[in-house]
Amino acid sequence: MVCAIPHHPLFLFLLLFLLPFSIVARTNGTVDVGTSITANNKDTPWLSPEGVFAFGFKPLEEKNLFLLSIWYHQIPDQTIVWYGYDGVPVSIGSKLDLTVDRGLVLSDPQGNELWKSLTILDNVAYGFMNDTGNFVLVRSDSVNLWESFKNPTDTMLPTQIMESGGVIFSRLSETNFSQGRFQFRLLQDGNLVLNTRDITTNFAYDAYYISGTYDPSNLSNSGYRVIFDDTGFMYILTRNNRRIDLTPRSMLFPATENFHRATLNFDGVFTQYYYPKTFDNGTKWTPIWSQPDNICVDIRGTEGSGACGFNSICKLNDYKRPDCKCPRGYSLLDPNNTYGSCKPNFAQGCLENDINSAEAIYDFETLIDTDWPTSDYEQLVPATETQCKRSCINDCFCAVAILRGDSCWKKKLPLSNGREDSVVNGKAFMKFRKSNLLLLQPPPRTLPSPPVPETKKNQGTLILVGSVLLGSSVFINFVLIGAVCLGFFLIYHKKSIESHHGNHSAVETNLRCFTYKELVEATNGFKEELGSGAFGIVYKGAIQMGSRVVAVKKLDRVVQEKEKEFKTEVNVIGQTHHKNLVRLLGFCDEGQHRMLVYEFMSNGTLASFLFGKTKPSWNQRTQIALGIARGLVYLHEECSTQIIHCDIKPQNILLDDCYNARISDFGLAKLLMLNQSKINTATIRGTKGYVAAEWFNSNPITAKVDVYSYGVLLLEIISCRKSVSDLEVGEEEKVILTDWACDCFQEGKLDTLVENDMEALNDWKRLERFLMVAIWCIQEDPSLRPTMRKVTQMLEGVVEVDVPPCPSQFSFTS
Ligand SMILES: *[C@@H]1O[C@H](CO)[C@@H](O)[C@H](O)[C@H]1NC(C)=O
Ligand SMILES: *[C@@H]1O[C@H](CO)[C@@H](O)[C@H](O)[C@H]1NC(C)=O
Ligand SMILES: *[C@@H]1O[C@H](CO)[C@@H](O)[C@H](O)[C@H]1NC(C)=O
Ligand SMILES: *[C@@H]1O[C@H](CO)[C@@H](O)[C@H](O)[C@H]1NC(C)=O
Ligand SMILES: *[C@@H]1O[C@H](CO)[C@@H](O)[C@H](O)[C@H]1NC(C)=O
Ligand SMILES: *[C@@H]1O[C@H](CO)[C@@H](O)[C@H](O)[C@H]1NC(C)=O
Repeated sequence: MVCAIPHHPLFLFLLLFLLPFSIVARTNGTVDVGTSITANNKDTPWLSPEGVFAFGFKPLEEKNLFLLSIWYHQIPDQTIVWYGYDGVPVSIGSKLDLTVDRGLVLSDPQGNELWKSLTILDNVAYGFMNDTGNFVLVRSDSVNLWESFKNPTDTMLPTQIMESGGVIFSRLSETNFSQGRFQFRLLQDGNLVLNTRDITTNFAYDAYYISGTYDPSNLSNSGYRVIFDDTGFMYILTRNNRRIDLTPRSMLFPATENFHRATLNFDGVFTQYYYPKTFDNGTKWTPIWSQPDNICVDIRGTEGSGACGFNSICKLNDYKRPDCKCPRGYSLLDPNNTYGSCKPNFAQGCLENDINSAEAIYDFETLIDTDWPTSDYEQLVPATETQCKRSCINDCFCAVAILRGDSCWKKKLPLSNGREDSVVNGKAFMKFRKSNLLLLQPPPRTLPSPPVPETKKNQGTLILVGSVLLGSSVFINFVLIGAVCLGFFLIYHKKSIESHHGNHSAVETNLRCFTYKELVEATNGFKEELGSGAFGIVYKGAIQMGSRVVAVKKLDRVVQEKEKEFKTEVNVIGQTHHKNLVRLLGFCDEGQHRMLVYEFMSNGTLASFLFGKTKPSWNQRTQIALGIARGLVYLHEECSTQIIHCDIKPQNILLDDCYNARISDFGLAKLLMLNQSKINTATIRGTKGYVAAEWFNSNPITAKVDVYSYGVLLLEIISCRKSVSDLEVGEEEKVILTDWACDCFQEGKLDTLVENDMEALNDWKRLERFLMVAIWCIQEDPSLRPTMRKVTQMLEGVVEVDVPPCPSQFSFTS
């Protein structure tokens, strides 16, 4: 009897029924330190108490690949809401450990560490998978050390908050979780924006959605948080606690009865969705609202390809999402990415000598309501359809001509922001090569360009027919074009592999914790002094068996008791990665020995470069000015915690091997400010000639203090003069650079300001623009100063610069 029971079908049925249930019942969401899971389809993920969310390895469609992620566990879709390790899939046998000192640690099957949640050592007590979808690492004193909600990927969930400066990235495609081209950001100025970006440098292009929650006249009206509350509503909260709804008030899907998520889709549309908790087979995530209204026409910046890739045409579908297609004569650069760029299937340009017979070679496809609004190079007015077409066909630069009314715009490759929409209200004449080669090309998009086996036979016949009918030259052309396309493809492929590699190493690098002894050895007993600053002395050293030269900064003023703050600040600095910042490599924190180890900059400070014997070239100076501005945009708006530098001056800008400007000493202000009053701080931070007025009055210290200092620095870069120079007879008016520069500007004496620097004077427009930007930056009223992002755009000439008022002359008293 005893032996018989296990074979009883009812028992087996009960066992099967109870087994999954008992696993769910055993979890209370807590994950003990020392627990691990392996990517193998067998290990149970870490479940939240109610089992709504799971954290673990989610098998991907591709066999034996898994994604470290959090997903909605109960619903059939098992929708992924967060992913680790930058969305890179891992192979079977990879392991996730919950460790005491680094929190979550992901390693490959060979045991090599791939990713970890904490960049500096700490003391984790346990992990917790909350039913809200937030996975947290908790220290024994109940402080949350890490939260998935604070490190979002492409999705926000109810109870999640995005702070000022926060950002989420789209995926690259539906199935590739790497960071894509689109961003959803809450800027420091209070605006919530959607924008495209350059994928390699993260440079943000113009926004295609702006919430308008920035009030320059009264900052307390500006936004500073995006809140997704527990009832399923999303809104922007302003500093004076006003609520600006994102979710429409009429939303009828309360979170008690529905699951929610808000995702920046891979195609750039941000959407909030609901999913009834009483789901059945056919239930799907349904949109509640989305932004922008029409991504195809709302993206219109001069840089970047638009919603689709270059030369592609975007059309909004019934779900308010973009579809992309290549025009006739063009095909996808990457056949697997229908949202990517299109390449012409024929040689474009002016290389051929058959320009005379252009009309015999080329023809047009007429596209209704289609346009590529940027990319113009000529405009013909008035022009008829015939004139417009003729002008384009005989112009080897012309890729497409647009006719609207009696205006004809000629456009060149690559074409960007392509759209098909009734708002265009015009016709496009797309030029393509008429030769019968096109018959041999597969129709765009439906077939991948390397022919698939089934159609091979068919094409073979066509090639044969084509070559017989048209003679061998056409056939040779075809072979050549094929070879060229293959070449392009290989180059492209190689590039994408390389760029992926690049990203990778950046992710894995971490701060190293040095012992005091190691640094004594590295610096040969602190022998060679490189300089000294507000924080202490900087020494030259070498690590990694002498192979890597470093600069070791001995901090002598950090408040000793602030153990935790030191770690936090160092961690914040360690997470910054930008080509215009000096990179922190590691630190030492042993009793009174506190040191920071930076990469070594071979070309010294900007001060010695600018004020040295020979005047550097204007072109080099403008590049340096732009570099510093970009570095500051990053510190103010793009890194995870806003960093105000507080001491921008040429001594704190270093030059690397290629004379790129690199900002140093950032992130240290907080270490010194602890326990100190503002006036006190001002005597330490900030340097005479570079400090903004608000250090001395009651205005709050914001990122605008850096803008002021940057303005002074920009004047120094323009004029190669120090902000406060020594008094010389006959030059009294030049002593305070800010005053003198304003005088020169008002009197139109730019040549005096640059001391007849011919290179600068020949670049008058830019010189004038730079000077005006500098004067905007040094306005006494912080709200009149632009943000660093605006400064960058003005310097680049992307946005107009208004004529600035000269600031009331603020003389320094100290
Ligand atoms: C979960 O259970 C563990 C032991 O089984 C216990 O230590 C922990 O406090 C529980 N956590 C919660 C949130 O109830
Ligand atoms: C889970 O999240 C809710 C909502 O944010 C919070 O109130 C609760 O304290 C969290 N639970 C734990 C154990 O952290
Ligand atoms: C995702 O895209 C990147 C960039 O194109 C590529 O390097 C990577 O291999 C892709 N990942 C997957 C899983 O296909
Ligand atoms: C800013 O606006 C709030 C109301 O929105 C108002 O109470 C406050 O006085 C204003 N502050 C200034 C400086 O105008
Ligand atoms: C789910 O769908 C399948 C096929 O689509 C159907 O056979 C099955 O009965 C459905 N189940 C429920 C619970 O509706
Ligand atoms: C396209 O995807 C298929 C299957 O995922 C893959 O085998 C092929 O190499 C991909 N082609 C390119 C050009 O990436």
